[in-house]
Amino acid sequence: MSTQVQKMFNQIAGKYDKANTILSFGIHHAWKKKFVKRVNPQPGEKILDCATGTGDIAFLIEKTSQKKANVVGVDFSEKMLAVAKQRAAQLKSNVEFMGADIESLPFDDNSFDKVTISFGIRNVRNLTKSLNEILRVLKPGGKLFILEFGQPQNETFAKVYNFYSNFILPQIGGMITGEKDAYIYLNKTSLSFPSGNHFIDLMQKNTTFRSCKLESLSLGISYIYTLQK
Ligand SMILES: C[S@@+](CC[C@H](N)C(=O)[O-])C[C@H]1O[C@@H](n2cnc3c(N)ncnc32)[C@H](O)[C@@H]1O
Repeated sequence: MSTQVQKMFNQIAGKYDKANTILSFGIHHAWKKKFVKRVNPQPGEKILDCATGTGDIAFLIEKTSQKKANVVGVDFSEKMLAVAKQRAAQLKSNVEFMGADIESLPFDDNSFDKVTISFGIRNVRNLTKSLNEILRVLKPGGKLFILEFGQPQNETFAKVYNFYSNFILPQIGGMITGEKDAYIYLNKTSLSFPSGNHFIDLMQKNTTFRSCKLESLSLGISYIYTLQK
């Protein structure tokens, strides 16, 4: 089934990486590196990167493990995946990229040691269903790592950040990709998505992960959540 989100990512796929780097002043690269450090991929581990997009996290995991972890990336946007596959060829990467919806993953129960999702969880249609599907494919004791936008806690910084996000980001995102509406939507979802302890509460109420911890990045602009099955 084609969704609005799927169409939107198909439309911006070709310019997605460039837009990310410009809009985040390159900071997203540092967040992603820290995220993969927390994932700490080990030789022989099977790791699934959900909502892999153009593959940033999947490639970083593979590189960090010195190609010794088995990495699979899934996404439901064929255009984002096409960019990921092109990059894989250039990087001589062994990451396996597949089209799949997080709400219905084409894998057996208990198949992965770790699952990652970076800047994807706020865009899923049904959050509880998606998280329970990830739980299903994780091995007992396996971990889910989530990187997602939050809202800065410091009031003064939040004002500056919200001004940038509401007024400047959609203009620049629109200029780079030709899809201003996509950046209005992406910004709206990042400002409204439950973050920090609100997200942890939601996890505890709606899923059976046995532990959840969080780490704030850049004064709460983003968070890393680590959940264990
Ligand atoms: C903002 S991009 C993030 C891409 C990449 N993980 C990164 O950090 O740059 C979000 C991605 O999530 C994908 N996505 C959203 N909902 C999805 C779902 N239900 N199933 C699979 N992919 C999904 C979109 O197609 C898009 O590629």
